[in-house]
Amino acid sequence: MESASPPVRLIVGISGASGAVYGIRALQALRELGVETHLVVTDAALETIRLETDFKKADVVKLATETHKLADITSKIASGSYQTDGMLVIPCSMKTLAGIASGYSDNLLLRAADVTIKERRRLVLVVRETPLSLVHIENMAAVTRAGAIVLPAMPAFYHRPKTVAALVDQVVGKAFDMLGIEHHLLKRWEGRGEERLRSGQVKAGTRTPKSRRLP
Ligand SMILES: Cc1cc2nc3c(=O)[nH]c(=O)nc-3n(C[C@H](O)[C@H](O)[C@H](O)COP(=O)(O)O)c2cc1C
Repeated sequence: MESASPPVRLIVGISGASGAVYGIRALQALRELGVETHLVVTDAALETIRLETDFKKADVVKLATETHKLADITSKIASGSYQTDGMLVIPCSMKTLAGIASGYSDNLLLRAADVTIKERRRLVLVVRETPLSLVHIENMAAVTRAGAIVLPAMPAFYHRPKTVAALVDQVVGKAFDMLGIEHHLLKRWEGRGEERLRSGQVKAGTRTPKSRRLP
C-alpha cells in the first residue's frame, strides 16, 4: 500500500493468539472510521474469543463489512486481482506467523496474507507470544524481509493508562499508524513538556523544544 490516501478496504485476520480483544477493538474502530473490512477468523481464534471475551462469533462478524470462511479458498480475498489497501492480522499467533513466513497458505487467512505480500501491499502482524523462541524470531525476520511489519502487542506506559481498554487502544492505534489510518486511539508522546506541566515546572501552553523530544 504505497498511496498516501487512507485505506478504504482492509482485510482483517484474527488468529488464535491471546488478545482476541485487540482484533475486536480493531474491527469496532475501523467500522467507526468507515473502513470496509473483510474479516477472516481462524478456528483457534473462535476459542480465544469465547474464552477471553463476552463476544459471540455473531457479534464479531457483525462488526465487519464482510466475513469470509476460513476454508473458502475461492473467496475474493484469496486473489491478488481483488484490490485491497492491505491486511491486518490482530492478534497473530506463532502458528499463523509461521504459515505466513513459509508461504504455507492452507487456509484463507494465510492465503490472503500471502497475496498481500506478493502484491506488495501493506501487511501488519500484531504478534503475541512470550517468551519468544528462536523459531518465532526467525519467522518474524523472514516476514519482515518479505515486506510485512511485525508489530508486537506491547503497549507503552508513558501515557499512564488507567484501563485495560486504554492499553488495547494503544496497540490498535499503533497498528493503524502502520496502515496509514488516521485515528485518535492513542495519546502521542509530545516531548517532556507534559511531564514538566504535571510537576508544575512549566505553565500550560509552554512548548518543549524539539531537540528535547524523544523519537
Ligand atoms: C487461551 C489461549 C491462548 C493462546 N495464546 C497464544 C498466544 O498468545 N500466542 C500464540 O502463538 N498461540 C497462542 N495460543 C495457541 C494457538 O491458539 C494455537 O497455536 C493455534 O493452533 C493457533 O492457530 P491459528 O494460528 O490458526 O489461529 C493460545 C491458545 C489458547 C487456547
